[in-house]
Amino acid sequence: MPHKLTDSLSALSLAAAQSLMQTASLSNLENWRIHYLGRKGEIPRLLREVKNLPPADRQIIGQQGNQLRHDLTAAYEKKLLSFSGQLASAPASRPAQSPVEVRPGHLHPLTLAGRDLQTIFYQLGFQLVEGPLVEETKYNFDLLNIPLEHPARAETDTFHLPDGLVLRTHTSPVQLRSVLANGLVPPFQVYSIGRTFRAERTDASHDHTFSQIEALMVGDAISIADFKGVVEYVYSNFFRQSVATRLRPSYFPFVEPGFEVDMSCVICQQKGCRVCQQTGWLEMMGAGMVHPNVLRNMNIDHHKYQGFAFGGGIERLAMLRHSIPDVRLFQSGDLKFLRQFS
Ligand code: DAH
Repeated sequence: MPHKLTDSLSALSLAAAQSLMQTASLSNLENWRIHYLGRKGEIPRLLREVKNLPPADRQIIGQQGNQLRHDLTAAYEKKLLSFSGQLASAPASRPAQSPVEVRPGHLHPLTLAGRDLQTIFYQLGFQLVEGPLVEETKYNFDLLNIPLEHPARAETDTFHLPDGLVLRTHTSPVQLRSVLANGLVPPFQVYSIGRTFRAERTDASHDHTFSQIEALMVGDAISIADFKGVVEYVYSNFFRQSVATRLRPSYFPFVEPGFEVDMSCVICQQKGCRVCQQTGWLEMMGAGMVHPNVLRNMNIDHHKYQGFAFGGGIERLAMLRHSIPDVRLFQSGDLKFLRQFS
């Protein structure tokens, strides 16, 4: 039912929009903000009236009011930004007022790295899939062929929650989840990006909360050569220089064979530097050909199909790209650090 307050809301919305359009200076804009959005302003005054309404009206009008406040705040911020160019000259014309510093928001370096990766994987035709941060042991370990006695299952490495749940220790569980949940049948190629957690002591290269990227490609003629091609494409595009990779045999229960992937040093181009410890190579991530048991757990015929998987930290990528010395900076909320990426 239309209500008197609804009418006041639309009148207010119109008046506010019109007068916002006419504000031509920062001080005008500040007056506008105080008049409409300030603590004693029109919008809060109206919202305070909502609680006196009959319950049936309260919710709908409350929602309309909140929406209006939200819209006006957004319009205000936009206008404020449009004035940011004037700030430098503002003090000269109004010597009595100190300039207002406007800092537009910007993205976190990990978000930037994640977005670049998304573009690259999109170019390669990979589909983005997701999984939960609170994961079932079944997906985090069992179906990945990680035996009960594997050290990664020890109490010290994993944040355990009640009811057999854990904070996922890697993004590998998303492999199974995405295949099973979407009923994927080969050939397919998926990837995932997200937070991971380990109950570890932190230092410059370890944090308890970090991010990984995970990829999985399955088909009827997928080889390690395909893997190398994909990984070199991803790294070369991410670092905007041509890189080489080398594979070292390694063990991960969910792949066979498994390997560690090294990338040619993007800092010194293999001339030898502190970052690559004079070796010319950087350790980047784990990978391998998907273990038959894991394919079976995905309901995939392992006689007919094979695939590769890889997974590694995104912090490492961002650290190399920006020469960031300590992984803990990403989560520090330290503005001196974060503002360098604006
Ligand atoms: N999940 C492993 C880790 O966090 C990394 C990894 C190794 C992912 C091999 C993979 C893989 O997909 O095939 O240490």
